[in-house]
Amino acid sequence: MMNFNLERIRADFPILKREVNGHPLAYLDSAASAQRPLAVINAESHFYQYGYAAVHRGIHSLSTQATTDMESVRLMAARLLNASLPEEIVFVKGTTEGINLVANSWGVSQLQAGDNLIVTEMEHHANIVPWQMVAQRTGAEIRVLPLNENGELNSAALAGLIDSRTRLLAVTHVSNVLGTVNPVKALVAQAKAAGLVTLVDGAQAVMHGKVDVQDIDCDFYVFSSHKIYGPNGVGILYGRKALLDEMPPWEGGGSMIDQVSLPTGTTWNKAPWRFEAGTPNTGGIIGFGAAQRYVEEIGLEVIQQREQALMRYALDKLASVPDLVIYGPQDRVGVIAFNLGKHHAYDVGSFLDQYGIAIRTGHHCAMPLMRHYDVPAMCRASFAFYNSEEEADRLVAGLIRIHRLLGG
Ligand SMILES: Cc1ncc(COP(=O)(O)O)c(C=O)c1O
Repeated sequence: MMNFNLERIRADFPILKREVNGHPLAYLDSAASAQRPLAVINAESHFYQYGYAAVHRGIHSLSTQATTDMESVRLMAARLLNASLPEEIVFVKGTTEGINLVANSWGVSQLQAGDNLIVTEMEHHANIVPWQMVAQRTGAEIRVLPLNENGELNSAALAGLIDSRTRLLAVTHVSNVLGTVNPVKALVAQAKAAGLVTLVDGAQAVMHGKVDVQDIDCDFYVFSSHKIYGPNGVGILYGRKALLDEMPPWEGGGSMIDQVSLPTGTTWNKAPWRFEAGTPNTGGIIGFGAAQRYVEEIGLEVIQQREQALMRYALDKLASVPDLVIYGPQDRVGVIAFNLGKHHAYDVGSFLDQYGIAIRTGHHCAMPLMRHYDVPAMCRASFAFYNSEEEADRLVAGLIRIHRLLGG
């Protein structure tokens, strides 16, 4: 593989050197939150040591520099998503807040009783619950695009869900449980043809390959910095300018206003600042800028190739584990969800933890998906480009050991 030196990459992530329960850490939980390279840790630390000040409010040098640095990250995020304008990028706390922003601003101002919204059966709760809350407030109805048995969306069912009162399609780009890559471009095209607004949840997509919001042609795209090697507490909401310009603010406070008068008559700042009330997580945003530079230097294509090779390797090796059920399609990115025989996912996860192997267990914030497969929980191993074949081997050996000791 071009330009890829795993040892050098792993050296960028100090945490990967530590031991857990007397074993070298095998961190297979990057889909929940990725580890940060030194470049990100140092950028945040440097900002706090030498550059910290409140942004947007000061005339002094530190404040203007911090503002410039923060705004340059907005430009970088626009480039990352190929947004046409930096003003289409809103800083939020994460994917969850980005979706809540759209639900509370666009949703509350646009939806009426009798309207309906479409979400899919494989959504993370972050792309279900905010819509349910806004539906409750407005009297709108939630419709569900179901899954096929192979863990892909039943796209053919979309047409049957859309009627003259359908207003929105909210769909994940990549499933956080199954690793399914959804045909978002085709789904968005179909939704747009019927006049729907479209939101794509990119939390599990941005770190695995190039995202182009102009090509997808969605109205909103959201993701979290901590899934792409940046700090947590920072995320990006992309919104098409024409829509953002029309949307009312959802949180009031400093920075989001133009003029404030009493008792009434307050006017709003323009988008995207209208949606950024209060003091932002500037250090986190600076760190997120460093994460984007880090990913850019390695190259998303290189990362993608490496992850796909590792995924193929892991799937191949996992085939030797008896009584292992793997969920989702063969073609997947990032994650492998499974259950081992009759064992509860928590038991499997705890056992693996004793060997220093960190995987995710539980409902993965996707209870409707668990119901679809009729299981209370799943195990999920996720693979980032800093993981090794040896770590995949250790996962497989651990599962075989559990099976040998405890049966199927
Ligand atoms: C598909 C998907 N959507 C939304 C989220 C929520 O992201 P955050 O907790 O960073 O807001 C996650 C996080 O796991 C996710 O995987």
